[in-house]
Amino acid sequence: MSKLWGGRFSQSPEEWVDEFNASIGFDQNLVMEDLEGSVAHVTMLGECGILEPSEVKQILSGLSVLKEKAQKGDLPYSVQNEDIHLNLEHFLIQEIGQVGGKLHTGRSRNDQVATDMHLYLKNRVIEIVELIRAVQKAIVKQAEQHVETIAPGYTHLQRAQPVSFAHHLMAYFWMLERDAQRFQDSLKRIDVSPLGAGALAGTTFPINRKRSAELLGFSDIYENSMDAVSDRDFIVEFLSNASMTIMHLSRFSEEMIIWSSQEFQFIELADAFSTGSSIMPQKKNPDMAELVRGKTGRVFGHLVSMLTVLKGLPLAYNKDMQEDKEGMFDTVHTLMGSLKIFAGMINTMKVKTDQLEKAVNEDFSNATELADYLASKGMPFREAHEVVGKLVLTCINQGIYLKDLPLSEMTAASSLIEEDIYHVLEPAQAVKRRESEGGTGFEQVKNQIKKAEDIIKNHVNA
Ligand code: ARG
Repeated sequence: MSKLWGGRFSQSPEEWVDEFNASIGFDQNLVMEDLEGSVAHVTMLGECGILEPSEVKQILSGLSVLKEKAQKGDLPYSVQNEDIHLNLEHFLIQEIGQVGGKLHTGRSRNDQVATDMHLYLKNRVIEIVELIRAVQKAIVKQAEQHVETIAPGYTHLQRAQPVSFAHHLMAYFWMLERDAQRFQDSLKRIDVSPLGAGALAGTTFPINRKRSAELLGFSDIYENSMDAVSDRDFIVEFLSNASMTIMHLSRFSEEMIIWSSQEFQFIELADAFSTGSSIMPQKKNPDMAELVRGKTGRVFGHLVSMLTVLKGLPLAYNKDMQEDKEGMFDTVHTLMGSLKIFAGMINTMKVKTDQLEKAVNEDFSNATELADYLASKGMPFREAHEVVGKLVLTCINQGIYLKDLPLSEMTAASSLIEEDIYHVLEPAQAVKRRESEGGTGFEQVKNQIKKAEDIIKNHVNA
């Protein structure tokens, strides 16, 4: 088969070379964007008097036939035609004859592919923000029910201070809020049209770039044709935002996995989001959370690989840039899948309040309360820390907790301690009293949830 660019060649590459060169195997994902770009381009060519109205009409009708065929999966793509752009041009010429060859007037595959990628990512980013919102909603729904559920808060994965379980969950709401904002902000840079930049230098045809941008719904056009065809920053930025988001999901996954272990038993994941073992009948494994944690690696990989592809590239287009697609498609697919799983997993998880209560009552995470109590009665905090540390040691030696120490032993350690200490030591009191802004006190947590509900309510996607 002769190539659409075959004029100056006397020999065609062999099929196995074509296969190495081709991107059709994966850029067929861009078929709708490519057709949309062509419709805008040819419409603009007609409006600018570059093509005859009858030519524009024929090309548009050919493109609409191709769109129908694409929707039905009826386009016989071939590696000989390399990529989605040349395949579609080939089908168009088959469909309407040589006039189809006029579509590429004043355009290059270089601005065409960049346009496709901008269109594709713009839509995916809007969908991703919606999916992030769904996860945030699920978090808020659980948090609303667990403001007064007390859980051990950890540092170094050692019990530190009791917290409201809702407070712990809501930390992830705010991480995801930053992710949603980052994605929304990135739209400014994605929503820009490279179309009309040509191969790299613009074109001699009197085209109207703003018009084709407008037809495609872009808010702006690239100012420099060389930048327009060689910029892949918007993809790097997307991969970076995706990496950050999935890193957050991965941390949350880790907690879900720990919390659902026999050792913790803080939550139980729904059967619908768990799997069994082929050999051990008792097992219920948190596979979905593990998979999200595992898939994080490939998203980070795509980011590093894109940065590496770009780092040595001179201006303008280089074929290396064809390597931008698979990682981007895989990231979109992986992130969207992970967000969907997460929303379902959080919505359906059961919080085991009795286990959480047991966990906070049988430990020393109320030790800070006793130290604060002494400090509020005038003892220098450092001294109070020492006194309480000794009392903790006494308890450990006796196999009891601070709440079990008789008052006589407490007052022997410090005469400032009185009967009311037992109330202060209750985990719920420890949480309730932390009313500093953004703290775990119930009122603070309720405030936070209220703000989160407003964010969700007022959310309008770009
Ligand atoms: N398949 C190519 C890509 O994805 C399209 C642009 C090719 N341009 C060129 N001059 N070879 O990057």
